[in-house]
Amino acid sequence: MAMGRGTDRDAANGTRRAPGIEVKPVAGHIGAEITGVDLAGELDDTVVAAIRAALLRWKVVFFREQRLDHAGHVTFARRFGDPVVLRKRGSASPPDVPEIETTADRLELGGKFGMEHDEWLRRRRHTLLRGWHCDHGARVDPPAATILRAETVPPYGGDTTWSNLAAAYAGLSAPVRLFVDGLRAEHRLGVGYQPRHGDDAYVRHLLDHQVASLHPLVRVHPESGERILYVNGYYVEQIADLSRAESAAILEMLLAEATRPEYTVRFRWEPGSVAFWDNRATIHLAPSDNTHLDFPRTMHRVMLTGEVPVGVDGKPSEPIVGTEVGRW
Ligand SMILES: [Fe+2]
Repeated sequence: MAMGRGTDRDAANGTRRAPGIEVKPVAGHIGAEITGVDLAGELDDTVVAAIRAALLRWKVVFFREQRLDHAGHVTFARRFGDPVVLRKRGSASPPDVPEIETTADRLELGGKFGMEHDEWLRRRRHTLLRGWHCDHGARVDPPAATILRAETVPPYGGDTTWSNLAAAYAGLSAPVRLFVDGLRAEHRLGVGYQPRHGDDAYVRHLLDHQVASLHPLVRVHPESGERILYVNGYYVEQIADLSRAESAAILEMLLAEATRPEYTVRFRWEPGSVAFWDNRATIHLAPSDNTHLDFPRTMHRVMLTGEVPVGVDGKPSEPIVGTEVGRW
């Protein structure tokens, strides 16, 4: 378990003291800005513990005006777990630092799978809430956390939004909580994609690289013990044992609950900003309000390996295809 060194006491105490550090919540249910820490410097254990406690309590923490380079980003990440090393990364990623994945929007806008970006988005956008996801959620062991660092950001547009899935679960009525507690759902890469006529390179890609798992619909957080409404708009295909019609209606309702504005926080990036989120207890919405603007946006990401989710009944998730514990 990558991030298993925290304790329940930490989770309850999101403002655990460390010298110089301040944790300032920025919304009612999620998000805190942490000041007084230089992430590129030597961090002592009390600082690391304070950041971890704030992360567990507030689900996403923000740092501004940081001076991390690629190596410093990885060094910081290692204080909290094991960085994921992807076998394949985007072409903008630094070849000599395998833990870093870089997205540079302008480089990737055109030509993906033989499509212009607009068509690519249109064919994938099967519902209004499709963009809400956790990172690599179709894996049997999705990352525990993601640490995202901004290098170049547009002057406006391009914000990221997160939602707190523990708050979403707690906000459900008692009968609905009881109902969802016992369910499981299939999470799959490429859900709802509308193929092109004839040959479609993305369909071929999906068939050759299928990734799907059966996850509990409510997972128990391995560190805080909280129940998490484990849904997202991107990967969840079908609630097991329900008809497709029942599943679609219930998923729509649950996802609407999971993304209620009161459970969310929105972050305005600046160069040097860092967002560190618990990928087990949140979903996030990648921005789409900058795709029509001609501004570059370059972001660097390190993910920490995560555990296999466990349901309320104590049963772990199961792989369906293309995913193995610890194999990236
Ligand atoms: Fe993401």
